[in-house]
Amino acid sequence: MTDRTAHWQTVYTTKTETEVSWHQDEPATSLRLIREAGAGPSSRIIDVGGGASRLVDALLTAGYGALTVLDISEAALAAARARLGAPAATVGWIAADVRRWRPQASYDVWHDRAAFHFLTDAVDREAYVARLRSAVVPGGAVIIGTFALDGPEKCSGLPVVRYDAQSLAGTLGTGFVLQDNCTEAHRTPWGSVQKFQFCRFQAC
Ligand SMILES: C[S@@+](CC[C@H](N)C(=O)[O-])C[C@H]1O[C@@H](n2cnc3c(N)ncnc32)[C@H](O)[C@@H]1O
Repeated sequence: MTDRTAHWQTVYTTKTETEVSWHQDEPATSLRLIREAGAGPSSRIIDVGGGASRLVDALLTAGYGALTVLDISEAALAAARARLGAPAATVGWIAADVRRWRPQASYDVWHDRAAFHFLTDAVDREAYVARLRSAVVPGGAVIIGTFALDGPEKCSGLPVVRYDAQSLAGTLGTGFVLQDNCTEAHRTPWGSVQKFQFCRFQAC
């Protein structure tokens, strides 16, 4: 087990849902961006670094039926599966470090809220983008949410890279056309505000 895996396993085995800063009851921005990407009921959607997020619940409720959640923490995925109950059987669950993952399928939508920003090393970012390029179909959507330039410098005690739309587009490089971007003031379960930057790209 790597240090990173151990970190996230500890988080998800020692904290409840509302004890983590990133918790959202309703992932409204993610849902909107997925809808505006033109995703339909059969679109293959992957939530990378999805953790125990309620996005998968909301997507199932909205009628999206080809969902995958990938996370470095088995415990996070187990928590999401337990919460969902029977519908969890319709979801693909991948316990993997995205930096080393070998995609076995193609996706129409790649969603990542607050996982990419932990990659502070250029080699790790390149590994992530290589997987993104191989996993998303041409014309597919890439939705990434990170801390904004005026967001926190750390998340879960780990340093992050903060982005605006321009710097995120530059980091992904060629082959991703920026379609939309917005900032969001996320309110943590204990009431503080964290500024996020969301971007939606089209892969070409
Ligand atoms: C801040 S949490 C956000 C969780 C979820 N996306 C949400 O919005 O609620 C970051 C998530 O990324 C996962 N993660 C961190 N590094 C990862 C990596 N290298 N590969 C896969 N998942 C990773 C963590 O386990 C954690 O669930």
